[in-house]
Amino acid sequence: MGRIIIFTGKGGVGKTSVAAAHARKAALQGKKTLIVSADMAHNLSDLFEMPIGREIICIEGMLYGLEIDPEYEMEHNFSNLVRAMNRMLKGMEGKQEELEDLSMLPGIEELFSLLRLQQIYDSQEFEVIIVDCAPTGETLSLLKFPELFSWYMEKMFPVGKLAMRVLHPVSQKLFKIELPDGKAMNDIELLYSKLVLLQELLKNREVSSIRMVAIPEKMVVEETKRSYMYLNLYNFNVDAIFINRILPVDINLSFFDEWLMLQAEYIKELETIFGSIPIHHVKWYDIEITGMKALDLIVKDALAKDNILDIQTTIRNEEYEKTDQGYQLKVYLPCASKEDLMIHETGMDIVIRIGNYKRSIPLPNALRKYRVDGAKIIDQFLKIQFVPEKGDLAHE
Ligand SMILES: Nc1ncnc2c1ncn2[C@@H]1O[C@H](COP(=O)(O)OP(=O)(O)OP(=O)(O)O)[C@@H](O)[C@H]1O
Ligand SMILES: [Mg+2]
Repeated sequence: MGRIIIFTGKGGVGKTSVAAAHARKAALQGKKTLIVSADMAHNLSDLFEMPIGREIICIEGMLYGLEIDPEYEMEHNFSNLVRAMNRMLKGMEGKQEELEDLSMLPGIEELFSLLRLQQIYDSQEFEVIIVDCAPTGETLSLLKFPELFSWYMEKMFPVGKLAMRVLHPVSQKLFKIELPDGKAMNDIELLYSKLVLLQELLKNREVSSIRMVAIPEKMVVEETKRSYMYLNLYNFNVDAIFINRILPVDINLSFFDEWLMLQAEYIKELETIFGSIPIHHVKWYDIEITGMKALDLIVKDALAKDNILDIQTTIRNEEYEKTDQGYQLKVYLPCASKEDLMIHETGMDIVIRIGNYKRSIPLPNALRKYRVDGAKIIDQFLKIQFVPEKGDLAHE
């Protein structure tokens, strides 16, 4: 079974550098490794100081590289799917004029980047696939896109039941769709099943994990907290965090005194929030991270553990469940007892305090109109019950 590690984080924090160091480590361990850039603003070529493009190329030894070009993929690898989807769009009644062509559909580029990733994984050519993503917001839409898109397909076209070869006339009316010919339907079914498998692949806790890269600065810490919450909400397995650009404490220049204090404060905050997953520190080097020598610094300092590429943890930190009264948030809190525990809400966060240990969990939008109705600890999980505010109807 192969391994996929996806790197995400705020813009400029060092995602590409840390991802490339992982790829370097895997290749040094003798594993055939591919580093894939799914960021439209590719920069693997700059980092490895050689041309890397839309076809897989050997960088050095066991290390290979690819900068995915979604348009190229649509034309070369998935032209049958593109044709089928275009036919499907044309058959939609009441569609908007500008939806004449598939490329108008938001997120379509991300979809084909992911389909290419899936294709590479399925080929079993590589033991390790490292994915370097665009900054957080885009990564999130990239990762949730297959889910959204298959939901959309299920709503618009009754393709959920794969066994169904011919649409019933009633559903044809109901879903306002021209009956696609047999061929198109097969292709649409193929796309749908690919999307289902793609989601399973990215959420498969034995294959895929997400590693977050952050730097110890306020805005980055805030964004990292939020994307961690969303990644959990979408049920992805975040198995490590890398805190990059940590200043050496022995700088001995008064100019850095304030910076050292701030970094210490934000490192502590990140450690509080991410206490249940492994945290790795990466130094701020006195050189740019380009070329193998620079990558080897990160490999030596932060990726020394032999099993660093394995899934580091599979704990589900936050889980929401719908209950009869509203929602329940489950938080993994080993060794906590109710007497030590204080819970309060601050704006968009729920704050859980145990002694000096404090954890803020940003609440999803869906819970904005809910209030906390109680909490209890069962089997090391803190369970917080949310009920709708008076006058508000519970909604999804
Ligand atoms: N630990 C470090 N020490 C010194 N320089 C670093 C370190 N980490 C990253 N850099 C430098 O910081 C810059 C940004 O790093 P990188 O390209 O890896 O970030 P990124 O998160 O991928 O950025 P983007 O969001 O633009 O894709 C690069 O010039 C890189 O060489
Ligand atoms: Mg980058």
